[in-house]
Amino acid sequence: MVQHIVVVGSGVMGRGIAYVGASAGYHVTLVDINESALQGAKQEIEKITEKGLSRNKITEEQASHIKEGLVYSISLEESAKTADLVIEAVPEKAEIKKQVFETLELAAPKHCLFATNTSTMSPTEIASYAKRPERTIAMHFFNPVHKMPLVEIICGLETNKETVETIKQVAEKMGKETVVINEFPGFVTSRISALIGNEAFYMLQEGLGTPEDIDKAIKLGLNFPMGPFELVDLVGLDARLNNLKYLHEKLGEKYRPAPLLEQYVKAGRLGRKTGKGVYDYTNEKEGKK
Ligand SMILES: NC(=O)c1ccc[n+]([C@@H]2O[C@H](COP(=O)([O-])OP(=O)(O)OC[C@H]3O[C@@H](n4cnc5c(N)ncnc54)[C@H](O)[C@@H]3O)[C@@H](O)[C@H]2O)c1
Repeated sequence: MVQHIVVVGSGVMGRGIAYVGASAGYHVTLVDINESALQGAKQEIEKITEKGLSRNKITEEQASHIKEGLVYSISLEESAKTADLVIEAVPEKAEIKKQVFETLELAAPKHCLFATNTSTMSPTEIASYAKRPERTIAMHFFNPVHKMPLVEIICGLETNKETVETIKQVAEKMGKETVVINEFPGFVTSRISALIGNEAFYMLQEGLGTPEDIDKAIKLGLNFPMGPFELVDLVGLDARLNNLKYLHEKLGEKYRPAPLLEQYVKAGRLGRKTGKGVYDYTNEKEGKK
């Protein structure tokens, strides 16, 4: 039975996963190597909790569980010792994920399940970094985690039925809908989303229109809730670029990242998290520029 969940990486996704985990009643430890990221996560989780409470999205009981049942740590080895499930949400780079899973394999108890929140990577490949392929799976959450209803569950080659069932139950307890699919780079959602987002950057590069006009056309003409530039600013331009690089390597030319996207990332325009992406958020109260 899953009681203690360790979430590794307290960035955009990890903090959201920790929040929904704690509000579902799990004992959650949020781990990061970067103390200031952990501090930022704690502040944001407190803000979301207050907002959730004031808008009746969560109960008093859930709010107090988030306060008491969620702890923050910089030691993965220590935290993993009592974990029943680890959800990894470190950057989309194979060498970083490999190092995390190698550490986990040594530190976590044998019964512990390993889930990765990768957007694109093969859970079979990730399972090869540890030695429990039957208990490793991808659990793909969406951003912002506390609002998005889906968890895409992706089975690796050797993932067993018990693991799939347990992960489904955990996701449902967190208030999420699930789909269970077989592995292929990009799964269902990232494969489509990366293509649309990349095409939008090519359009911008070609001078087809302003970001506002391209976003407006997609929202009002195609009935998308967000434009591709609004979305990439939320996701993080670096995260999107990493996804495209991986998909380009695995699935070929149609996923080659747009040069303009690469340029923005080089310039440090990573989206909302850095205050500027395609749009400028430095003066958020006055709206995006
Ligand atoms: N951003 C999105 O919208 C989104 C959506 C779905 C899935 N994902 C996936 O989730 C994962 C995380 O993405 P993100 O956007 O939250 O990244 P992020 O850059 O916001 O956060 C990553 C965090 O991991 C920490 N970290 C790095 N190495 C670590 C280590 N060895 N141990 C512990 N912590 C470590 C960093 O300090 C950082 O705080 C990626 O695989 C990404 O593809 C992202």
